[in-house]
Amino acid sequence: MWGGRFAEGPSAIMREINASIPFDKALWRQDIAGSRAHVAMLAAEDIVSAADAKAIDAGLQTIAAEYERDGVPEDWDLEDIHMTVESRLAELVGPVAGRLHTARSRNDQVATDFKLWMREAMLRAEAGIAALQHALVTRAGEHADTIMPGFTHLQTAQPVTLGHHLLAYYEMARRDRSRFADARVRMDECPLGSAALAGTGFPIDREATSRALGFARPTRNSLDAVSDRDFAMDYLAAASQCAIHLSRLAEELIIWASQPFGFVRMPDTLSTGSSIMPQKKNPDAAELVRGHAGRIVGCATALMVTMKGLPLAYSKDMQDDKPPVFEAAGLLDLCLAAAAGMVADSRFEVARMRQAAELGYATATDLADWLVREADIPFREAHHITGAAVRLAEGRGVALDALSLDELAAIDSRIDERVFAALSIDASVAARASYGGTAPDQVRQRVAEARSELGIDE
Ligand code: ARG
Repeated sequence: MWGGRFAEGPSAIMREINASIPFDKALWRQDIAGSRAHVAMLAAEDIVSAADAKAIDAGLQTIAAEYERDGVPEDWDLEDIHMTVESRLAELVGPVAGRLHTARSRNDQVATDFKLWMREAMLRAEAGIAALQHALVTRAGEHADTIMPGFTHLQTAQPVTLGHHLLAYYEMARRDRSRFADARVRMDECPLGSAALAGTGFPIDREATSRALGFARPTRNSLDAVSDRDFAMDYLAAASQCAIHLSRLAEELIIWASQPFGFVRMPDTLSTGSSIMPQKKNPDAAELVRGHAGRIVGCATALMVTMKGLPLAYSKDMQDDKPPVFEAAGLLDLCLAAAAGMVADSRFEVARMRQAAELGYATATDLADWLVREADIPFREAHHITGAAVRLAEGRGVALDALSLDELAAIDSRIDERVFAALSIDASVAARASYGGTAPDQVRQRVAEARSELGIDE
């Protein structure tokens, strides 16, 4: 393509280090769409003749059909997807193919292709998150009344409802989805026509190509347009946060599925057995969601470090933008599907969760709150009195509500028999009815809101 300037061809090493076709062939649809929009505009502006544009467009459609049928050929000499398409076009339509590259460069071409690909990846992520949200809300509705221990420091803290716990992940997913949607709006500007870096002397119509490719408007600065990969970093940053949330969910399911917990039975379809220990059912899908999150964060780091030292405008380092994005997108799509499947099809062991909540003095705060409310004791003092009650119960190996009224009254005479109503875990969760609290009625309200947010019909 640049033989005019060079006396010798590239060495084998140059060919190999330069070739991006092994991975950027994934952009073939976007590349052909971009070229078709470009040549239609060139014809509309009389930069190429209508007849030439027609031949080029027909050739591009033939190539699309070939790639659809046979895949994209990988010839390192042709370097990348842009040259691969153009050289095939020349074989199909002859020298007129050379007119396609008028008023553009591979720099604006690749930026355009990549944005088009990225837009679809963002939409895919949003749809995957929506499916996860759907599963979370459905299960939260089923378990608005299911009581489990709530943890801080992974120590039993206060009883919560499982529905409330699941809706915590709904909120994370809602933010994740908005990050992708937001990134999609921000990148909605078409780089095509920025040419190599400075724009072009040809009378092109950038509004027309932008519109044809479904962008809101053309980019406003050609130097920025060919050197900007913010959209890819936005995607990777959003993917990283989303993957971190999925990893935390996976981690909880792994803990909950372990025998000492026994809170959940993971679906057989998303578990594996052991080749040596017949009793085992391993939560491999969850472990890989947790593991893949690390790789996704690694991809984000890879591109950010690639970009940080680059002067304007295009540098070949930027060709390394695609592998981390493609890798992260494939991993994220899989992780989202696995997470949605685990949430939808896991069986929660309701009795076991309840039993665990009854142990561990999860209602100690309720005793302290009762002392504040009913006996007008300052909270710090109530905390101290409750500590004594917990110590007594612990010493005897019983739950708080198994202590007798005499025993409690001996700790503080202001305690009377009404306290027992506050010490049950059901009373505890029902009492936490502040907005956004764990009470079953609150959970039902949040589920209803979430369902309407997701457009689920009642
Ligand atoms: N394969 C290149 C990439 O992905 C296309 C742009 C090449 N531009 C250039 N001036 N060499 O970045």
